[in-house]
Amino acid sequence: MRVLITGSGGQVGLELISFLLGRDHDVIASDVAPKPDACTHDVAWEHLDVTQPDEIREVIERVRPGAIYHLAAILSARGEQIPHVTYEINQTGTRNMLEACRELDVQKFIFTSTIAAFGPGLPDPVPNEVSMRPTTMYGITKVAGELLGEYYRQKWGLDFRGVRFPGLINAGVPGGGTSDYALHMYTSGMKDGRYESFCHADTRIPLMYMPDAIRALVEVAEAPREKLRRSIYNIAAFSPTAGQIAESVAQAIPGVDLTFKSDPLRQAILDSWPRALDDSAAREEWGWRPQYDLDGMTADMVLQVRQMIADGRL
Ligand SMILES: NC(=O)c1ccc[n+]([C@@H]2O[C@H](COP(=O)([O-])OP(=O)(O)OC[C@H]3O[C@@H](n4cnc5c(N)ncnc54)[C@H](O)[C@@H]3O)[C@@H](O)[C@H]2O)c1
Repeated sequence: MRVLITGSGGQVGLELISFLLGRDHDVIASDVAPKPDACTHDVAWEHLDVTQPDEIREVIERVRPGAIYHLAAILSARGEQIPHVTYEINQTGTRNMLEACRELDVQKFIFTSTIAAFGPGLPDPVPNEVSMRPTTMYGITKVAGELLGEYYRQKWGLDFRGVRFPGLINAGVPGGGTSDYALHMYTSGMKDGRYESFCHADTRIPLMYMPDAIRALVEVAEAPREKLRRSIYNIAAFSPTAGQIAESVAQAIPGVDLTFKSDPLRQAILDSWPRALDDSAAREEWGWRPQYDLDGMTADMVLQVRQMIADGRL
């Protein structure tokens, strides 16, 4: 099947392109930004700004995708700096994409939601279905995206589905997300020998290693519809405290100096997120299982980050 990816140049998009090409999918990448040097694949790359309905229609009419992976978004920390732009890209942009799918008869729409969609004060672990009252513009637009997609599914039969990602970790340059403290412990820890996290050591949020996240997204996209009883699924892997991540990193990199100094803005965002997720619906309905725990991720990250430093990519 031919798939179109929005926001392809980001942390998730680049990994998704590799994964889908590796499975012989017909992939059309798109982004408002040009193809980055980090994308070494020979893949078609369209300019597509999700805030521009005419451009979306033109690309979809020409490319005729069977499914769209909609990744384009402004993430949590940056979203608080530019809330109006975040609303336009995340909320109006998602509506524009859904509407183009309806008009042009695209069958399937895969959405990337987030733990930031929940808001504070929920049970631990947070169930799949719960009252969602996020306090960031990012979270608000993601809840709206989930609800809009469900509306298009019920009213017009669009096959809308997706996952709520935990904070994602991969060997790359940190992109400004609020869960980046975990990634910095590996990258700065290995490059500079030290890192001061911008949160308390006892901060705990759900995290996932990128290979598991990409596999989950493609598994939910390809699951038989009759197995799915809902549109959006919690997925979980592990929920360490920041201190536990530091311990795992220190075991792999002896002598590394990892300390903690909370930044009020980012700490407030982290404290508004769930500490752990109940992913039993994903496990039961489409067989979701993570492959990496914290120490498994650390072992692989150390190899990857060492290679990045050796290649001059970090
Ligand atoms: N990375 C995480 O930890 C995480 C966690 C939960 C959910 N998600 C979700 O996964 C998706 C991908 O996240 P990511 O980490 O790759 O983000 P990212 O910030 O790395 O990439 C986002 C991409 O969207 C593009 N973009 C921005 N504005 C656009 C526009 N108007 N039109 C088209 N493209 C535009 C950017 O150029 C960028 O390439 C997002 O929807 C995000 O909400 C990510």
